[in-house]
Amino acid sequence: MIWVKVLSKQEAERDDFVEMAKVEGKKICIVKHKGNFAAIQNTCPHAGGILSGGWCKEGHIICPIHRYGYNLETGRGYTGQGDYIDVYPLELREDGLYIGFRQSWIKRLFS
Ligand code: FES
Repeated sequence: MIWVKVLSKQEAERDDFVEMAKVEGKKICIVKHKGNFAAIQNTCPHAGGILSGGWCKEGHIICPIHRYGYNLETGRGYTGQGDYIDVYPLELREDGLYIGFRQSWIKRLFS
């Protein structure tokens, strides 16, 4: 696993947010919802909506285009959607928030 810092400590301490972060040029959606962090793919699998332009509801990210929802912990879409999003591991360290990428993901995401 390779860990990359995505937020400084100060940035991580802000109130809840949904925003896009760039990691090695790749766009990732970073969420703080009810004090919990999530890092998910930025593109909605339904029709390409930008999830970092969405909002959170009851532990789900809601896509702003057709309002599909995805669980922030498991990535599973709402019942009936039959789809899912990638959810990346996070680690809150003393100096900020880090996202973890497995070698196999790095090939898929960054090549
Ligand atoms: S593009 Fe996201 S719900 Fe349709």
